[in-house]
Amino acid sequence: MGLYSKYLMPRIVDFACRGEPNRRQREKVVPRAAGRVLEIGAGSGLNLPHYDPGKVEHLFALEPSAEMWAMSGELQRKVEFTTQHVAAGAEAIPLESATVDTVLVTYSLCTIPNPTPALEEMRRVLRLDGELVFCEHGLAPDAGVRRWQRRLNPIWKRMGGGCNLDRDIPGLVRDGGFDIREMQTMYLPGLKPATYNYWGVASPRP
Ligand SMILES: C[S@@+](CC[C@H](N)C(=O)[O-])C[C@H]1O[C@@H](n2cnc3c(N)ncnc32)[C@H](O)[C@@H]1O
Repeated sequence: MGLYSKYLMPRIVDFACRGEPNRRQREKVVPRAAGRVLEIGAGSGLNLPHYDPGKVEHLFALEPSAEMWAMSGELQRKVEFTTQHVAAGAEAIPLESATVDTVLVTYSLCTIPNPTPALEEMRRVLRLDGELVFCEHGLAPDAGVRRWQRRLNPIWKRMGGGCNLDRDIPGLVRDGGFDIREMQTMYLPGLKPATYNYWGVASPRP
């Protein structure tokens, strides 16, 4: 891994994820997490201030980039529940099956190289009565925006640490073994190809 990917990219990704529209999206989904929570691609810890401390028992923060998670130090010190960094990719989660109450994933399904095996792993570690809480950007509904998503994707992915603009988020969630129970969508303010958001809750399919 080059110096750009290892040291500069985490700062660029952190900056890109810090925006006010994203913060408002975090406020909508993160407080839903309860019990033993697994956050996928926890990044620089931007969701930490939004968890409801009265509901979270323990947080497994899965993040393969040590440099990204190291940026969360100050935010970690402020939370009232225990946190544990899980240094792994979501395609092979080092946790026992059916041991987690909530899996939270925000703005990571765009980047995870193999999202379907990753979602299958999230389903495996979730209890059957557990919830997948998600908020992601992805494939837009408008043909013109989709064309730009497909045009821009190769360069965007190279510059953005592997982020894809055009992933079919609900399709991936369903293919990973989940039934979507609630979902909302909208464009956030900003560049349309990068801002079509999907957020909601899904249950593991028995
Ligand atoms: C755009 S950032 C989002 C960070 C954070 N979830 C947020 O909402 O701010 C994408 C994150 O996915 C992580 N990631 C990349 N590959 C991954 C994988 N295979 N499994 C889990 N996370 C991965 C990256 O290291 C990065 O922290």
